[in-house]
Amino acid sequence: MSQVESSSKLDLERIVFIGRTFEEYMAMFSLPEDELKSKTILDCPAGACSFSAVGNRKGFDITACDIAYYHDISDLKSKGLLDIEHAMGKMRFSQKNYRWNYFRDIEGLRKHRLSALHNCVDDMMNRCERYIPVILPSLPFDDDQFDVVLSAHFLFMYGDRLDYQFHQDTLNELLRVAKEEVRIFPLVDLSGQRYADLDKLIHDLSKSGYTCEEETVRYEFQLNANSMLKISK
Ligand SMILES: C[S@@+](CC[C@H](N)C(=O)[O-])C[C@H]1O[C@@H](n2cnc3c(N)ncnc32)[C@H](O)[C@@H]1O
Repeated sequence: MSQVESSSKLDLERIVFIGRTFEEYMAMFSLPEDELKSKTILDCPAGACSFSAVGNRKGFDITACDIAYYHDISDLKSKGLLDIEHAMGKMRFSQKNYRWNYFRDIEGLRKHRLSALHNCVDDMMNRCERYIPVILPSLPFDDDQFDVVLSAHFLFMYGDRLDYQFHQDTLNELLRVAKEEVRIFPLVDLSGQRYADLDKLIHDLSKSGYTCEEETVRYEFQLNANSMLKISK
């Protein structure tokens, strides 16, 4: 790791290592399994998701990248287990902001988050070449390297912490490495409000020649977080 990378790397304490399952990704991005089988896919940032682990077992071609992957797998697993317990404790006070038809209750949610974490770290041990450490807004991949790039629960969600320039730079980088399209989910921040600069961003992307479509999806856990942005080249 270069000096720049190590100094800008988030320390493990500041990383929350929690991720979604393969099934949640398929629903939140409206992904058709049969079409995906012939595509190369990048999940960025992938965190503790099982999309790559389960997808690759099914014969997909998925690469995961995240700043967290600079850390040891066993440290990430311990941190992930702590983060899940912490998140479940906090969830007791904010249950009403979520829709529970899929997970049913906090115990159901815990099971899904644990399953994603275990699948992810087990796969990291067996197929480490599929888990690439990166620091957005830059990526170590070639232009058009992946057919489809997916980005969940990062851009737009943290509009209070990540400024417009970071959003623009990150999106340009995701688009650079995508041959066909980039999909982003969700389009709201942590309070369930539509990302304030989304229209400006879509306008800027359209001016640069990209086609942007907002699609309602069949996945909604956080209230109002039920649509994704599809940007086609
Ligand atoms: C809320 S998680 C989302 C993970 C996954 N996409 C999901 O939907 O469950 C956000 C992820 O962004 C990663 N992250 C934060 N800043 C980053 C950066 N500058 N470059 C790459 N990854 C970053 C964190 O490590 C974390 O895993």
